[in-house]
Amino acid sequence: MVTSFQLFGSIALGIVGYKIFAKFLPWAYINIFGPFLLGPKLDIRRVGGWAVITGSTDGIGKAYAKALAKKGFSLVLISRSLSKLETVAKEIENEYKVQIKIIDVDFSGGVEIYNKIKAGIDGLDIGVLVNNVGVSYPYPEFFLDSYQQNPKFLVDIVSVNIHSVTHMCALVLPTMLNRKKGVIINISSSAASIPSPLLTVYSASKAFVDKFSEDLQTEYRGSGITVQCVQPGFVATNMSKIKKASLMSPTPDAYVASALRILGYNIQTTAYLPHEGLQLAYEFMKYLTCAPYTAGFFFKHLMTMRKRALSRMSKGK
Ligand SMILES: NC(=O)c1ccc[n+]([C@@H]2O[C@H](COP(=O)([O-])OP(=O)(O)OC[C@H]3O[C@@H](n4cnc5c(N)ncnc54)[C@H](OP(=O)(O)O)[C@@H]3O)[C@@H](O)[C@H]2O)c1
Repeated sequence: MVTSFQLFGSIALGIVGYKIFAKFLPWAYINIFGPFLLGPKLDIRRVGGWAVITGSTDGIGKAYAKALAKKGFSLVLISRSLSKLETVAKEIENEYKVQIKIIDVDFSGGVEIYNKIKAGIDGLDIGVLVNNVGVSYPYPEFFLDSYQQNPKFLVDIVSVNIHSVTHMCALVLPTMLNRKKGVIINISSSAASIPSPLLTVYSASKAFVDKFSEDLQTEYRGSGITVQCVQPGFVATNMSKIKKASLMSPTPDAYVASALRILGYNIQTTAYLPHEGLQLAYEFMKYLTCAPYTAGFFFKHLMTMRKRALSRMSKGK
């Protein structure tokens, strides 16, 4: 005979099992079955002839430029250094035989830089915008210390990481809406959702990108616009200072290939399975412990990184 204890236990197990299953199925569809078994949800080549990429002379931005050129897009590369832009444009032109325009602007400048960009992209059939440009702290630091050391730098983070995203969207959306198709890819960071003390302004700027992308998608989904907010963990670039790629810190090319594969499946995505694993581990840790403990864990980790960076700097390395 089933005791009331057994009955209660079975019901509780059933509820927990159902909850896990209900969360796992959509996750597995978005991250595994969809992109790997069913294939792309969206044929990106059909959205237009031109792709605009900010911060496109290095790292993830350059990888997007190459990947989109490979798909046949003509490119508008926007970055800070004219000589680097010319070199990258030549490299991509030679390899993929696509048309390339370059625009040199410093996104830490004032709103007037957007007039130059507007003039540069005017009349182009823009199908894809990749808001990639971003800056972070040179090393993890307390908010007040970083402010006192260089108040302008914290202003720059907001200009480059936030204003560039809003202004670039405002510049390309009218064309996309006219043609009722377009893809906007906003590069955020896992720092937006995982506790990132000592990178406070950077992580908050990326949380803006998350929220902006989510609500922008709701506003324009019915008008044929797809928004993807990409939240990478570590990728081996100048910004992360990771020189040797690994499974957890892939090359920008490997990361971007994964992000493009998953396009259209979800608005917000780490876009790379091992980073998705890290995100899940964090969610699990949060579930098992409590928010202050989890935040404290990451604080300790970032304090160690800060200590190492300061020690390296004191030795002049
Ligand atoms: N790498 C990671 O581990 C990681 C993790 C999470 C999120 N992300 C995000 O991914 C995006 C790309 O990062 P990344 O690692 O590829 O960076 P990166 O290798 O440092 O490249 C940054 C690119 O942006 C350009 N840029 C920087 N500041 C600029 C400015 N003020 N005006 C115009 N262009 C500027 C750089 O041009 P110059 O060469 O002229 O400086 C370069 O082309 C960022 O939004 C970042 O927050 C990166």
